[in-house]
Amino acid sequence: MSVLITNIGELVTNQPGERAGAAEFAAAAGAALVIEEGLVAWTGLASQAPAADQVVDAGGRAVLPGFVDSHAHLVFAGERGAEFAARMAGQPYQAGGIRSTVAATRDATDDQLRANLRKLAAEMLAQGITTFECKSGYGLTVPDEARSVAIAAEFTPEVTYLGAHVVPPEFDADRAGYVDLVCGAMLDACAPHAKWVDVFCERGAFGRDEAAAVLAAGQAAGLQARVHANQLGSGPGVQLATAVGAASADHCTHLEDADVDALASSDTVATLLPGVEFSTRQPYPDARRLLDAGATVALATDCNPGSCFSSSMAWCIALAVREMHMTTQEAVWAATAGGARALRRTDVGHLGVGARADLVMLEAPSHAYLAYRPGVPLVAGFWLNGEGVIEGIQAGS
Ligand code: NIG
Ligand code: FE
Repeated sequence: MSVLITNIGELVTNQPGERAGAAEFAAAAGAALVIEEGLVAWTGLASQAPAADQVVDAGGRAVLPGFVDSHAHLVFAGERGAEFAARMAGQPYQAGGIRSTVAATRDATDDQLRANLRKLAAEMLAQGITTFECKSGYGLTVPDEARSVAIAAEFTPEVTYLGAHVVPPEFDADRAGYVDLVCGAMLDACAPHAKWVDVFCERGAFGRDEAAAVLAAGQAAGLQARVHANQLGSGPGVQLATAVGAASADHCTHLEDADVDALASSDTVATLLPGVEFSTRQPYPDARRLLDAGATVALATDCNPGSCFSSSMAWCIALAVREMHMTTQEAVWAATAGGARALRRTDVGHLGVGARADLVMLEAPSHAYLAYRPGVPLVAGFWLNGEGVIEGIQAGS
């Protein structure tokens, strides 16, 4: 069955190209798009659209690629609202807060973890996130990490093994023993369910050599690398990420010139998570410095119970535009095609012919409204793998 979406006010296609940035953002007015077999089969001017089995009149609304959220921690139990409130009253954010979620996660049943993840995934989809990455990292024992990645794999192919999130309390006196576990039995139990290996390379979490050992072990087990880097201060994370060919260095809040150069001259995407800086009251990353240097920038939510409990990519776009001086085009590109680059995916994040038909329709005439109307739920409908959920929008045949 084919579906023609016509009378699109602005169709954002992000045709893939060689390098990143606003130059690749591509949008057309008065456009149409045809979906067939779950894929984009045709895009062009509405006046030249071919016939299709079903016609959806977009009524001048904008259509974008579904958001690609390349960084989220969704397998957890419990919540940390009081920690957030204390932070807003002046307490600093500390990586150690992760341990309270670890305790709650260990106490939860599989079904409780699954139900929480199902709820968050649905929340994301309703807000236009059609692809998301999901990390483990709140279990930190072999069985708790193994069930975390296995449950994540029920919901997304983009599963990340993050046994190296923090050193759990029972290993306080034996950090090396914990790193050995992460690189050994825990990795063996998790690798079959995961695509990625990640490490929180930060003061208070894992140092350079520890992080390098975790990434090397993960890569040897067939996983691809991504790194939590330079979130709370300058450090070796970004250099390590680029040196091991990681798909992404995430956070990038505190960068030296050499870090910017390393990102600009590598295939490692700089994934910025402005919701974290909002929720931890920290300075935002310098997106302009990265973009102007030629680095590829992605935006992601980092949805997690500690540093940023938001599943709204639209809000991240608004923050990136208002607080990080990204153009509306750069921000939307980063939340779609940029996220796809950070996950090394070529089938999502754009609406070129042959792309997965993952689309978002906005209750707005252009992408700019995502930043222009912050906090307003603008997703009028979406298609996931060609299946539409478009309540209230006219469809005919
Ligand atoms: O990406 N930085 C490390 N991990 C998460 C925080 C997790 C937490 O505070 O529970 C992050 O910000
Ligand atoms: Fe994170």
